[in-house]
Amino acid sequence: MARKELIVDETASSNSSIGSIDLASSLDNSDRPESTYLDPRRLRTDESFEPGLRPKFLEDFIGQGELKEHLKIVLGAARKREEPSDHILFAGPPGLGKTSLAGIIAHEMGSEITVTSGPSLARPGDLAAILSDLNNGDVIFIDEIHRLSKVVEEVLYPAIEDYKIDIVLGKGPAAKSVRLDLPRFTLVGATTRTGMITGPLRDRFGIVARLDYYSPQELEQIVVRASTIYGIEIDQPAAGEIARRSRGTPRISNRLLRRVRDFAQMNGENVVNLEMAKQGLELFGIDHLGLDKLDRTILETLCVNFSGRPVGVSTLAISIGEEPETIEDAYEPYLVRQGLIQRTPRGRVATRRAFQHLSLSVDTLSDSIMDKQLTLESII
Ligand SMILES: Nc1ncnc2c1ncn2[C@@H]1O[C@H](COP(=O)(O)OP(=O)(O)OP(=O)(O)O)[C@@H](O)[C@H]1O
Ligand SMILES: [Mg+2]
Repeated sequence: MARKELIVDETASSNSSIGSIDLASSLDNSDRPESTYLDPRRLRTDESFEPGLRPKFLEDFIGQGELKEHLKIVLGAARKREEPSDHILFAGPPGLGKTSLAGIIAHEMGSEITVTSGPSLARPGDLAAILSDLNNGDVIFIDEIHRLSKVVEEVLYPAIEDYKIDIVLGKGPAAKSVRLDLPRFTLVGATTRTGMITGPLRDRFGIVARLDYYSPQELEQIVVRASTIYGIEIDQPAAGEIARRSRGTPRISNRLLRRVRDFAQMNGENVVNLEMAKQGLELFGIDHLGLDKLDRTILETLCVNFSGRPVGVSTLAISIGEEPETIEDAYEPYLVRQGLIQRTPRGRVATRRAFQHLSLSVDTLSDSIMDKQLTLESII
């Protein structure tokens, strides 16, 4: 079967859905400043760097060991049976490799891939047009599948279960429904919001895989791999430093590598060493824990302005002038994982570690704990 590259068409218009990611809707970041190096979501500047970087086969894909093992077995067995693989759903935070894995599945199966996204499939007809154009064994990748409308999702159910689609011909009393056979294809879905996928859709996937954040060792390998693709000379300690500050996310490590390369170049260095990496990262405001200016503003707001008391996400968002979704999707998960903030039923709370990270005195912390107890008592 012919092999076609994973298409990420940057010039795609918002109406175009087949063979491209609809950037206008799926890359909704027009209001995001490009200087948010640690925002794990796609930025427009990333797009031109990503296609060449994406691993093409499972063996080039670093990390996610268990998931890779499962995929090797599932895809290998499907190849042996000469059948398309089961439908696969990838869930997980932005920048961990969901789109890359969709491309890998198509490459490994030697099949063609059609790329589209939930928001760009506005009407059932949009999906019907794509599905009826597929060939046996093809892969269809639906990014942000949690954003499919209900009517389109209902067209998808019989398509993925029985490879059939119901089309309504005509209008009014004369309208009739015709059931059409579809080729046997594999659906690969990706979502950053597992909670927003409906039960019936989720249940129709043969494999639901969650991608985990990467370890610093895995990210170091990813940095080294990217540096050879970009043609950047970097030593091992520098790669390790970038990896440690990348919030467990390959997209961020690739982005930081490019910034450190710029810094080294402007300083007349051809090889990126540890000192260059550290200085470059500091210059771009990324500290040793991998926090940027906005992370520190969030912590300061919780620790100082609200004296360590629980704060609702919308109040926090207003205080720092950001959208609540940006805090919840892009910033909070890392701060929680680092033990810097806690999510409680009454709001977000800074931990002792957050106070220490900001070099705030323990007195401030004990005052705030007193405050918390007072608030608790007044509620009880
Ligand atoms: N395991 C990996 N090994 C090497 N590079 C990787 C790996 N995972 C991701 N990358 C790189 O990180 C970048 C982001 O990956 P990708 O676009 O697949 O993430 P995603 O999960 O689809 O993100 P989003 O949710 O924003 O769509 C790509 O440039 C890709 O090359
Ligand atoms: Mg993606």
